[in-house]
Amino acid sequence: MQLTVEEERMLDGRFGYPVQKAMEILVQLGHIYGAERMIKLSNVHMPGSSVVVAGEAGTNFVEHMAQLDGHFTGLTTLNPAAVDFSSWSELGYPEAAWQLQTRLTGAYCRMGALPCHTCVPYLIGNAPRIGEHVAWGESSAIAYVNSVLGARTNREGGPSALAAALAGRVPAYGYHLKENRYGQIRIDVNTDLAGVTDYGSLGYWAGGIAGSKVPVFTGIPVNVTQDELKMLSAALASSGAVALFHVVGVTPEAPDLQAAFGGRKPEQVLAFDSRQLQESWSQLNKHQGQEISLVAIGCPHASIREIGTVARFLSGKKISPRLELWITTALPIKALAVRCGYQQPIEDAGGRLVIDTCPILSPMADVAREKGYTALVTNSAKLAHYAPGQWGLPTYYGSLQACLNAALNGNFQQD
Ligand code: F3S
Repeated sequence: MQLTVEEERMLDGRFGYPVQKAMEILVQLGHIYGAERMIKLSNVHMPGSSVVVAGEAGTNFVEHMAQLDGHFTGLTTLNPAAVDFSSWSELGYPEAAWQLQTRLTGAYCRMGALPCHTCVPYLIGNAPRIGEHVAWGESSAIAYVNSVLGARTNREGGPSALAAALAGRVPAYGYHLKENRYGQIRIDVNTDLAGVTDYGSLGYWAGGIAGSKVPVFTGIPVNVTQDELKMLSAALASSGAVALFHVVGVTPEAPDLQAAFGGRKPEQVLAFDSRQLQESWSQLNKHQGQEISLVAIGCPHASIREIGTVARFLSGKKISPRLELWITTALPIKALAVRCGYQQPIEDAGGRLVIDTCPILSPMADVAREKGYTALVTNSAKLAHYAPGQWGLPTYYGSLQACLNAALNGNFQQD
């Protein structure tokens, strides 16, 4: 691997131990993946921001780097934490999780990270432009930033993202190189998709087929919304390991089929019609009949538009006293929701805006046990995929409308 003089000096320890350690990790990764050089990057989105992922050992390591004057070189945003810092106790999170999370977030912040704790950094100011090299973790955000924004990242894990943030570099391999960004599979969407949940269903079906390949979608209208693409990204990266996809006529590297595939032939061509849409829904809805305890909206974290929709629907209504309604989002989006007058009708109805965290990256199994949760309802394919395994709870999957109706009635009915 060809290093610059500056990079050799970083590796020799002239810029301190954290930079040296970071370069050792990055050079090793470069050797493993056959990178010929390093690429400078502009920003990092840090996975491993929750202590559920980092644990005590990871927290100790991050603190160690901060104590040794480690400093992040560019904009660094944090993925969801294990608790909502503003109301962890009320929500039922264990004090030990809050304490450890406070240490981990503090250490990241001392090195220069923004304590935004969200999986939608692109909605709150970390929105790199097309072609920009970044190092992002969090599967849904990776798929979004690569595909919808056209920036370039590999699927970074906690240690590699930390190393990238400290060194301001990543090895040049994978999705940083244009030749690896062309489509491999074509999926023709031949059915109307009604809202974000249908896009989640499409992504869930397509991710299961694509695995880690690059799917190219045709037939998606140009007026597809940011929320729909957000849900598509999350679902593709749940049933599969998709880090990059193209939507012909919509995403920046796919103005047409020729550009999306770089002139190559697709390895496979598949159709997604109403039968596959139904199949995908059925796969995510294997349970029935259990009493609902929690309705969870905001996976990925809810946008201001989604919160506005929930607020308008709940205005003047009351949710069932037998259940809780959580809308998970980012702190700045909640602040805007408060200013827009969206928080009040949601709280008056009995729901709440939860910030900083999400059901999967928090110790939700403890909360579920403590509170005696019986079943979960969500409009997110990603949450419906992970929650049953992670919490052992039956999960229902439906549109936002079906989820909100379930919150009011206390039982779930497919619409
Ligand atoms: Fe985000 Fe958590 Fe869902 S990180 S995508 S809200 S599982």
